Amino acid sequence: MYLMMVKDSRKLCFRVTPWIMLLALPLLYVDLLRVHIIHFDSSFAGTHYINLSSSEIILTKTEHVANKIVQENEQESLNSLFLKLVKGEGRQKLEATGLGCNGNADTIYCVTNRAVKIDTRTMTVTVPSNQPVKEIVIRPYARKEDVKLLESVTPVKIFLGNDTPSQDCEYTHDIPAVVFSSSGFVGNVFHEMNEIIIPLFITTMPFKSRVFLIMEDYSTQFLRKYENALLRLTGYEIMNPAANQSVHCFPGAVVGLDFHGMLALNSSEPPYGLTTGDFRQFLRQSFNLKYRHVSEIKRPRVMLMSRRSTRRIINEDEIVSVMKDVGFEVIVVARAKVMSDIGLFASMINSCSVLVGAHGAGLTNELFLPDGAVMVQFDLIGLEWAAAIYYGNPARGMGVNYMRYKIEPEESSLLKIFGRRDHIALTDPKGAFSLQAGREVYLNAQNVRIDVVRFRETMVEAMSLVSDSSV
Ligand SMILES: *[C@@H]1O[C@H](CO)[C@@H](O)[C@H](O)[C@H]1NC(C)=O
Ligand SMILES: *[C@@H]1O[C@H](CO)[C@@H](O)[C@H](O)[C@H]1NC(C)=O
Ligand SMILES: *[C@@H]1O[C@H](CO)[C@@H](O)[C@H](O)[C@H]1NC(C)=O
Repeated sequence: MYLMMVKDSRKLCFRVTPWIMLLALPLLYVDLLRVHIIHFDSSFAGTHYINLSSSEIILTKTEHVANKIVQENEQESLNSLFLKLVKGEGRQKLEATGLGCNGNADTIYCVTNRAVKIDTRTMTVTVPSNQPVKEIVIRPYARKEDVKLLESVTPVKIFLGNDTPSQDCEYTHDIPAVVFSSSGFVGNVFHEMNEIIIPLFITTMPFKSRVFLIMEDYSTQFLRKYENALLRLTGYEIMNPAANQSVHCFPGAVVGLDFHGMLALNSSEPPYGLTTGDFRQFLRQSFNLKYRHVSEIKRPRVMLMSRRSTRRIINEDEIVSVMKDVGFEVIVVARAKVMSDIGLFASMINSCSVLVGAHGAGLTNELFLPDGAVMVQFDLIGLEWAAAIYYGNPARGMGVNYMRYKIEPEESSLLKIFGRRDHIALTDPKGAFSLQAGREVYLNAQNVRIDVVRFRETMVEAMSLVSDSSV
């Protein structure tokens, strides 16, 4: 019976599971090597070092053209914004060669402060330089380890060097371009936020809306859903390069997006100073959310994320009664339908003091909770790691109280399947299965029956947290 179940559930949402990260670990290793090649390739090491700001000053002085000085000043302040976006060796390279790249386990992005040509027919970015010719290929989506997924992301070729055939600019822009992809997991709110919206916020904020977005693998569904947020990041129309098919010139560009961590911003990372709180304020403004702090909500309200296919709560009615009993107003959301109108849904979540749910993309909505709210996650057997990394730790970074409700074997449907509490599947989830099989067992074949006594204690504590808190 168990084997049959594994087979059937294999079709289910192969990609939306965190296990894919574990699966991709060997590939991650290979990918890290690739980044290193880009960074340490000797032909790219700045042997011929140019100090851009000083060479510009010389140029200005010799030409004596007032107009030119204005342009140079603009370019110089733009240049300081580009420099903010890269660190370490990437920053040195940018200063020395006009192109600098940074990478980590999740993303790679390159910044150029030179006047670039972007040919949207071939997605080629030409960076003029007297450096030896160099070509870098980037798939601009912040999930570098997921090689399978990246196949759906159109590669961007960056040419650095002076011997590339010159093309005329068909359109000349006076603001920089940021190139990214809306391919990937569009439709899944966790991935949309984690890999596109937050990285885009990080990468474009320094430009204060004076930035031209080129969105590869253009998804109109994504655009419609996040229109209110995207309109705050750019004052210009978002380009679909596949439909435009021409040569555009920009005073600089960023290819790919910076990434600081799961649903997180780190003020110690480029562009420096942006916090998760800043992003949450951006969401409140974008979606017109009313509550900044949980103390502003008059009547404590819980939203329960109800899952209908996998990781179901079998005694949902019982736990709803418990929550009401403790004094909460309860909203139960069967997520898929309601969540497609993100503006409406964000307002609903924002008016709640507590969000309750099992591990899954629906918990991404913790982003919309007011400060001081509580997120209760049912931490299912075998998913401790994912529960913490994806939603638990990020909640803390948001100023949301995270309460982990650890599922005991008696509450998990896996106890029935494996028969005894001391079965290896329950005592050592990591060692019990291959990664693929483990994903099927713990993510897709596990439902829970919550212990109402223990759950009541959790909700009483949640109630005291949201009642005691003040601005
Ligand atoms: C570039 O030139 C400026 C002004 O001369 C100087 O302050 C700065 O240290 C130089 N930067 C590098 C990386 O050499
Ligand atoms: C291409 O982009 C330019 C500049 O944004 C715009 O003016 C032009 O209309 C676009 N062309 C097409 C075919 O979309
Ligand atoms: C933020 O970035 C700094 C600098 O890279 C790093 O030392 C620190 O651990 C990061 N913080 C978190 C919470 O990841």
